Amino acid sequence: MKVLVAGGAGYIGSHAVRTLVKAGHNVTILDDLSHGHRSAVERATSGLGKTAEFVDGNVADRDAVTRLLRDRGIEAVMHFAAYIEVGESVQDPEKYYRNNFCGSLSLLQSMREASVSKLVFSSTAAVYGNPLSTPIIEDQPHAPINPYGKSKMMVELAIEDFASAYGLGYAILRYFNVAGASPDGVIGEAHEPESHLIPRILEAASGQTDAIGIYGTDYPTRDGTCVRDYIHVEDLVNAHVLALEHIRPRTGTAYNLGSEQGFTVREVIETCGRVTGRNIQVVEKPRRAGDPPVLIASSAKIREQLGWQRQYPDLEAIVRHAWNWHQAGSALRKPV
Ligand SMILES: NC(=O)c1ccc[n+]([C@@H]2O[C@H](COP(=O)([O-])OP(=O)(O)OC[C@H]3O[C@@H](n4cnc5c(N)ncnc54)[C@H](O)[C@@H]3O)[C@@H](O)[C@H]2O)c1
Repeated sequence: MKVLVAGGAGYIGSHAVRTLVKAGHNVTILDDLSHGHRSAVERATSGLGKTAEFVDGNVADRDAVTRLLRDRGIEAVMHFAAYIEVGESVQDPEKYYRNNFCGSLSLLQSMREASVSKLVFSSTAAVYGNPLSTPIIEDQPHAPINPYGKSKMMVELAIEDFASAYGLGYAILRYFNVAGASPDGVIGEAHEPESHLIPRILEAASGQTDAIGIYGTDYPTRDGTCVRDYIHVEDLVNAHVLALEHIRPRTGTAYNLGSEQGFTVREVIETCGRVTGRNIQVVEKPRRAGDPPVLIASSAKIREQLGWQRQYPDLEAIVRHAWNWHQAGSALRKPV
């Protein structure tokens, strides 16, 4: 299939590019490099004997995107392009509504104009806000508590309406905490700034920072720190390819993507210590506003409906691949 990967120079998008190309799809990447890396594009297909075309552009550039979709004969879009910093979205909501919602709406319009009728959309557990219960199933009410989550919820609503009105077929994938790197060590996580727990712990492990902060040690959890669900990026992108293959016109659904296991912040730090063999310094800090104590996915729906299976259910494997990448991957931003 001819697939446009919007945001394909980013962390998850570049892993999706690699998996799609390996699976024999013809991939075009659209990314404005606001947070992605040109070198991640090269690395995403290295050693595969095939490449993906890279187009430097913004999903909101409607005419250019419509032309791109038509000229390349694109049949499906995987849409990863978004800003992802929750804290920044609280400080500057306009930036998030404009890029994440208006940009997505423009992309949907371009798809309609170019008669591209299949979409896989990157959504997030943040649409659930403070969940009523865990594990979280897809039918739980949406009550996002920050502009990032709200911008994603708004895109979900637009997608559902585009399906019933214009025949779009879609899969909405709501990720929990994505972590790890490609097991072959070719690509990995390189956010700037990095706010995700595992790479931040690895920065402390490797001496790039002095210590890892734990925000809140008095939550009602087994050791007082927040519990989160970590999913290997490779398992996540495999779910995208599976979902893409099952999209039918005029309809779609949402799937949670998590490991269905919860780990406390302290347990993640201990695992990183074990895998790296390093002594990791910890600084205990007060709770941050808006951090739910426990977020664990139920991914039963995608397992049962699409037969999705995780290859890397162990937190240790996630950390090992992230650590391999962390040690090798400081070269990411250098030209390949
Ligand atoms: N990383 C996670 O744990 C996580 C969890 C839940 C959801 N998500 C979602 O997954 C998607 C990918 O996240 P990521 O961690 O790979 O982030 P990332 O920042 O590494 O990748 C996003 C990419 O999109 C590009 N981009 C942003 N706005 C654009 C625009 N308007 N036009 C073109 N390109 C644009 C950026 O340059 C970047 O390469 C996002 O939509 C995010 O909301 C991520």
